Amino acid sequence: MPTTTADTSDKIIDGKAFAARLRREVLNDVADLKDRHGIVPGLAVVIVGEDPASQVYVRNKVKLTKEVGMNSFHHELPADISQSHLIAKVAELNADPLVNGILVQLPLPMNLDEASVIAAISPEKDVDGLHVINAGLLATGGKAMVPCTPLGCKIMLEETIGDMSGMKAIVVGRSILVGKPIAQLLLNANCTVTMAHSRTKNLADEVRAADIVIAAVGRPEMIKGSWIKKGAVVIDVGINRIDAPERGEGKTRLVGDVEFATAAEQASAITPVPGGVGPMTIACLLQNTVTATYRQQGIDF
Ligand code: GUN
Repeated sequence: MPTTTADTSDKIIDGKAFAARLRREVLNDVADLKDRHGIVPGLAVVIVGEDPASQVYVRNKVKLTKEVGMNSFHHELPADISQSHLIAKVAELNADPLVNGILVQLPLPMNLDEASVIAAISPEKDVDGLHVINAGLLATGGKAMVPCTPLGCKIMLEETIGDMSGMKAIVVGRSILVGKPIAQLLLNANCTVTMAHSRTKNLADEVRAADIVIAAVGRPEMIKGSWIKKGAVVIDVGINRIDAPERGEGKTRLVGDVEFATAAEQASAITPVPGGVGPMTIACLLQNTVTATYRQQGIDF
């Protein structure tokens, strides 16, 4: 007998719809900044080298920046650029009054030191929220620029769950870009947070105890559906390309860090890959650029 899978479509957290709504809000804010203050927010994106995945991300960022009415400044630099030249470019953008947000696409080529490049970005223009000042402000409850992917996850969780006070959350993955800031945001929302990583013992049991699961390890389908507690909310940050011979020779497909079909049966709500967290990341980048502009101009919002 063929196995049947339950229809779990009503459990999907539609990241595309969330992102479209947020971009509409940003578009209204940009129009308001223009009409009432004569300001057009500007986002500078710096890409070093020719990593194809990064080029796709950056092209998308540029397109959506223009779509909401902001100025987009796109800087493509050669892979062999020196550290000092790259830092000089960042300094130039820091000083440019038309630039309100700066994003240096990561990863950088091996010969460049990411930490020093991020440290060179003015914290007020750091729309990625990666500067130590912003990480420190987030950790201490100040007015931080919050990293885009974690911010997107938080917005979707709040809309899906409402008050998260007292809930048990597990974050699998401890990167500076995703895992650590998400844990801070969940803590600020009064969750009891477990941070798991590659050395965590009995990961399955840790996940089984959680009401909220954030998967950000970058390993295809590592979190098994059978580990998910009945009714938990699952946010899958992973985007992994794997071989898909069932689609034909040489074909590939995208999967998350969570085994989606089985997890969806257990969960009360879950983000798909693609179409979950990904679209929200760019929408939050645009929102951060508007936030940075308001703050730089001293405008209440
Ligand atoms: N590379 C993949 N995701 C990101 C991101 O959110 N910001 C930057 N700067 N680079 C990335």
